This record gives sequence, C-alpha cells and structure tokens, in this order.
Amino acid sequence: MSQVIEEAARRRTFAIISHPDAGKTTLTEKFLLYAGAIQSGGAVKAREDRRSATSDWMEMEQKRGISISSTALNFPYREQELNLLDTPGHRDFSEDTYRVLSAVDAVVMVLDAAKGIEPQTLKLFEVCRSRELPVITFLNKLDRPGLEPLELLDQIEEQIGLRPTPATWPVGSYGDLRGVLDRRTDVFTRFTRTARGSKIAPEEDMAAEQAAAEEGDAWLKCAEESELLDAMGADVDMESFLAGQSTPIFAGSALTNFGVRHLLDAIVDLAPAPLPRDDIDGEPRPLETACSAFVFKVQANMDRNHRDRIAFARICSGKFDRGMVMTCERTGKPFATKYASTVFGAERTTIDEAFPGDVVGLVNATGLNIGDTLYDETGPRVEFPKLPQFAPEVFASARPQDSGKVKQFRKGLDQLGEEGVVQVLRDPDWGEASPVLAAVGQLQFDVFANRLDVEFNAPIELLSSPYQAIRLTDSESATALREKPGVRILQRTDGALVALFENKYALQRIEQNEPELMLDPIIAG
Ligand code: G4P
Repeated sequence: MSQVIEEAARRRTFAIISHPDAGKTTLTEKFLLYAGAIQSGGAVKAREDRRSATSDWMEMEQKRGISISSTALNFPYREQELNLLDTPGHRDFSEDTYRVLSAVDAVVMVLDAAKGIEPQTLKLFEVCRSRELPVITFLNKLDRPGLEPLELLDQIEEQIGLRPTPATWPVGSYGDLRGVLDRRTDVFTRFTRTARGSKIAPEEDMAAEQAAAEEGDAWLKCAEESELLDAMGADVDMESFLAGQSTPIFAGSALTNFGVRHLLDAIVDLAPAPLPRDDIDGEPRPLETACSAFVFKVQANMDRNHRDRIAFARICSGKFDRGMVMTCERTGKPFATKYASTVFGAERTTIDEAFPGDVVGLVNATGLNIGDTLYDETGPRVEFPKLPQFAPEVFASARPQDSGKVKQFRKGLDQLGEEGVVQVLRDPDWGEASPVLAAVGQLQFDVFANRLDVEFNAPIELLSSPYQAIRLTDSESATALREKPGVRILQRTDGALVALFENKYALQRIEQNEPELMLDPIIAG
C-alpha cells in the first residue's frame, strides 16, 4: 500500500455542528482531554465574549480561546490523526460554517437534551444533507432535566429525517446519570464524576447481570428502552450511516465527561476516512495522485504583528511537502508553500508534510481565494467544484466614513467581495454609489467592516437596508422585475444579476403569479 493511502486511512476529518450553547465548545475540549492533547479541562475561556457578534472581530477571535480560533485542530487518538474543523459557533452564523462543512468527511451533531432540535441545528443539518455527510449524533446534557431520550429520537426522525440508531443509551434518569450502555456490545460503563469534569471520568465496565444488580431501576429502564429499540431494528447500520440516511446516537454529558470516550471512539470506528474527491466534472481524483487541495477559508490579520493572510486548504490527494510549489488552477500562477502551518489555539506550528484529509494553513496567500483549487504540476491538472453559495438573509449598505478614502473603499469592496466575505451588490446604472452588502449572517458584516478598516485603511459606516430577500435572476427577467414595486435589480461582483425584495410577500406573490420569471434562490453548489 502506498504511504499516501496508508496515511489517508488513518485520517478522520470532521466538524461539530450544534445550536449555540448545546455544548460544542465543551465537547471539543473534552475530545482534546480524552485524546491527551490537553491535561485538564477548563482551558476554554470567556464564553461571554463569544456571544457578542459586534465587538472587534480579531479580539473576539482571541478571547474565544482554543476552540474558536483554531480553524483545524489536529490531534492523534488511537493511532489515528483526527482533524476537527471549527464551525464558528455564533448565534448568528455565516457562510464560513457552510464552507467548513465542504471540507469534512463526517459531522458530529450535538443536541441539548433539554431543547432537542433547534433552528440552527436544522439549518446546518440541511448543508450536511446536501453533501450527504455522515452524521453522528450526541445527546448532550443528559446529566440534567430534559426531554426523554426516546422523544429526542422522534424529533431527529421527524424534523431531520435521519433514522436514529442508538449505539449507546443512558442509564440513570436526569440529575442521576450513571453511565451508558453500549448496545452493540451489551457492556454498561459506569462513570464517576470528577470535579467540574476537568479530568477524565473514571470508568467501570460491567455486564448486564452486574449492572442489573448494582443499578436497579435505572438499569431496568435502560434495558427496557433498549429492547424496544431492538424491536424497532434501531441498530447502528454502517451502510445507511455512510449514505447520510441513518445516524448513530451517543448519549452522555460533555460537562461531566460521561459518554465522551464512546463518542470519540465512534469517530475512529464509524466515521469514514478521506475518499477520493470528485473534480468539477464529477470524476473522483484518486488519493495517490499528485498533491491537490482546495481552499475553504481565507483569514487575514490573524496575527496583528504580521499583516498576513492565511488560506486554509484541505488536502484532497497526494502528499503535501512544505516548500513544494503548487499551481492555483484559477489563475494558473504558482504558489510557494514555504510557510505552511497548522494552527492550534493562538499558536502556529510549521507543518512539514500533510496527507489527504489534513488542513494546511498557507501563509502569505495573497493570490488565493475561497474555493480555489491548488495542484502539484507533476501530476494531472484538477479543478474541484466551486463551494456552494447560500441565499443571503441580511442586508446592509456601506459608505466610507471619510470621503477622502473612496479609492481604498472601492479596492476593499472589490477584494472582499471576490473573497466572499460578503456579497457586494451594485446598481449597474449607478456604478459605485453606496453598494448593498448581502450576507448569510450579521457577523460577516462585522468582519467586512473590520477588514476594510485594518487592511484597506477605509473605515466604513454600515447602514441598514430595506431588503428582506434576494434571488438570482437573468437579464430578461430583470427587465420585467424592474417594473415591480419593492424590487430592485443589482449586479454582484462576479457579474451575476440579482433581484432584491423589500418584503418576502412581494417575492412570494411574484413566484406564485409569474413562475416564468427566473428567481433562483442562489444555493448553487
Ligand atoms: P457551545 O459551544 O455549543 O455554544 O456551548 P458550550 O460548550 O459553551 O456550552 C454552553 C453551556 O452549556 C455552558 O454553560 C456549558 O458549561 C454547558 N454545558 C455543556 N455541556 C454540558 C453538559 O453536558 N451538561 C450540563 N449540565 N451543562 C453543559 P455556561 O453556564 O454557559 O458556561 P460555564 O459557566 O459553564 O462556563
């Protein structure tokens, strides 16, 4: 077996999705604890800061501590290399999250057992579905009052459409969680709490008879429910899991560490290793082909002392050696990878080699944009599909605070629009006058404003905008749409025409009455 195939098989590249506060940060930290990457929990700081979406972006990033500022955490566990990609966990979410999900092979969906499926879980899950990503579900916070686990399963099935297949099941009712039964092996693991869950929870494994003798009613309830699940045929099924149709369920509490090891083991045992990635024509690029990667995130000014721009790329095939020259497919220009790094918290570590599934941070990446394909010219050329764009839901307009900075302002608009920080929409007849900015989440505007200020020296004023919905259109439909009240036609940085609607009803009316008009929800893949 070639080194690349062997190394790829050892990789698990995944992300955690959840509604804010469901426990993603806590779980991330506990994964690191169980993998031995940190010695005790509690390293995650300043949750309050994370909740604000308006303060200075960079400071926010720094204050959020490890799980937020790390685009990709790499840590070994059980002879495997785990790459945990961060999905920004704001109340308000951004296109970044979607892009991250295009770079992973599996997802852990964390549900707060008291709240069940929440709106953002649903939105994020839709993206997983569109990519047919395998989803492992963690029922979190079972240590405190919440919904009955069986009811949570119903919600998953009904609201998400995934068939839940519990791998582990809780023993002990709310407030008295004792451990989990592994339904695949019939072994009960009893955990002991440690102070604030900062250390690995001591475990004791036992068979059913012993569990029945020691745990009494708590065990009986679990055993009954598990039998019911047996009768329903709700066992973990690899084929439908990998096809994104069923989801193995793990029960526990990230705070007290109960069930965390079972979940981490599942990432190794169930989640798929990197597979050949389809190119733009749908042809899979074999893993052992010369190195190729695609950029899923670009971040500027991560380090205030070095005004820099890092492009995060996921390796799709071949071996990456630091220093190799790769070609950017879009521009045809070479890109020297002399300064490649991984980022762990605020620290950057130089990375010398990487394999499919790994994420490398490419420093000085001025010529690279989100969605760009990079490849090693010693092998065949490749272009990976463009990253999906999502229908923006928030709108604003921008103008420079200082009228003497118009030139810098325009330059920033063009560059950040191309990068996909926000969508920049202009009136084709009016040219530069105060463009409309469109984004999936408010935070994108904050990042945009911050970058215009720091990188382009053009502080801006963000003004509210009267629009509520946007659709992609074509020039023929645009002519008809221009005549409608509450509709405005603008042009995006990439030349595409879009229709903006002052209210959603106007849009619905047109969609119903004039279906012949081209109104695409811009969820192009
Ligand atoms: P997020 O990243 O998904 O937004 O969630 P985060 O981990 O920050 O967790 C949100 C809150 O839920 C935190 O409480 C955290 O301690 C708590 N939490 C996480 N997992 C569990 C669990 O298994 N059981 C219980 N009971 N609570 C859990 P907080 O009060 O907001 O913060 P802190 O004061 O605990 O730091």
